[in-house]
Amino acid sequence: MAPYSCMTKPQLEAEYQKELEAYAHWKAQGLNLNMARGKPAKKQLDLVSDILTTLQTPEDCFDGSIDARNYGELAGLPCARAYWADILNCKPGQVFVGGAASLNMMFDIVSRAYTHGLLHSDRPWCKEETVKFLCPAPGYDRHFQIGEFYGAELIYIPMTETGPDMDMVEEYVKDPQVKMIWVVPKFSNPTGITFSDETIARFANLKPAAPDFSIIWDNAYSLHEFEGDYTPFPDILTLCEKAGNPDMVFEFASTSKITFAGGGISCMAASEANIEYFTGIFGVQMISYDKVNQLRHVKYLQNKAHTLEIMKLHASVMAPKFRVVADYLNREIRPLGFASWTDPKGGYFVSLDAMPGTAKRVWTLCKEAGVTLTNAGASFPYRFDPQDRNLRIAPSLPPVEELEKAMGVLCVCLKLAALEKLLGKDAI
Ligand SMILES: Cc1ncc(COP(=O)(O)O)c(C=O)c1O
Repeated sequence: MAPYSCMTKPQLEAEYQKELEAYAHWKAQGLNLNMARGKPAKKQLDLVSDILTTLQTPEDCFDGSIDARNYGELAGLPCARAYWADILNCKPGQVFVGGAASLNMMFDIVSRAYTHGLLHSDRPWCKEETVKFLCPAPGYDRHFQIGEFYGAELIYIPMTETGPDMDMVEEYVKDPQVKMIWVVPKFSNPTGITFSDETIARFANLKPAAPDFSIIWDNAYSLHEFEGDYTPFPDILTLCEKAGNPDMVFEFASTSKITFAGGGISCMAASEANIEYFTGIFGVQMISYDKVNQLRHVKYLQNKAHTLEIMKLHASVMAPKFRVVADYLNREIRPLGFASWTDPKGGYFVSLDAMPGTAKRVWTLCKEAGVTLTNAGASFPYRFDPQDRNLRIAPSLPPVEELEKAMGVLCVCLKLAALEKLLGKDAI
């Protein structure tokens, strides 16, 4: 196989006819496969289902003298705050344990910022003429949706192999209208990259013009290596504190990809001043979160060391799937030289750059052949990929046999869309 760029027009035409046939073959199979969202597979959920029996009697429902079944402890059971402090290398007093979704708490932070302001806000953000959010992309679509929902202006910051383009970030935060940046620092969604120490230090040392500029440090994949051992990660809270920015960061994590997705526990870690401020605010909307679930989780997961053992179980299911993705792309696409993709060692996604100008077309071709991918462009602010080339692959949900088929379809669609473009064909 030669790269498409080295082929003559008749050779490209022959390739096109070949891929058309392959596409028709896939289409005839009437597939219905999904690689759209980062959901754990049933096998993973089964592996951790012993959690269902950790609380069996009323006596099991106590954290010391605190009855988890009753109201109280809005910031979380002491054992749950200590659990997350162990995971994130911070102090229990810097942890607020929430309900089943960290995204819910991120939304709440933005919501309160708009209605009441943050700890250092001069006024609620709804009173600002313009509020701007920095959005490193490709990034997590739901982060960008929250900003869009509140009418913030979303600013695209390109991702590099070491994290967001920090020169741009440092420049943009000089604008007092820039209030927030959203990042996934480890095994980023969707690129799978982990921020370098230098990038992390530059985050902690930002000198924003807005007194209430905040970093949403969404550490959703902090324990989620599927290849190799766990790599410790710098604690952003301490780094911000040392840099004189103790209240600038809100870190989030959850057990959605450790126990049950949407049925786990979440946490927000921030300075003690921020935790106090938000405990006061959350107290207006909530008497307490589900502490029974918090206790169930702490009894099952125990501590960081034991949680990492459980993550090895997840890795045994995840790793073969990511190998399928890499094998297909390396075999079918790499020699043709028109696309590139990431090679993560953890997290839930692979970010694929198709031939520029073809991502939407690839998505449609896949859809018509029964394979659903995350919408093309979804990983960019306003769902607009300036080069129309990025696709997010989420291989966790389908079993390996289905994933093989889905990747077979995706590879044919990548080739077809590229050939259509090179040959100036109308869509088939
Ligand atoms: C980066 C990131 N943050 C947050 C979430 C959602 O987490 P939770 O279930 O805790 O709301 C996801 C889910 O895919 C994610 O990828």
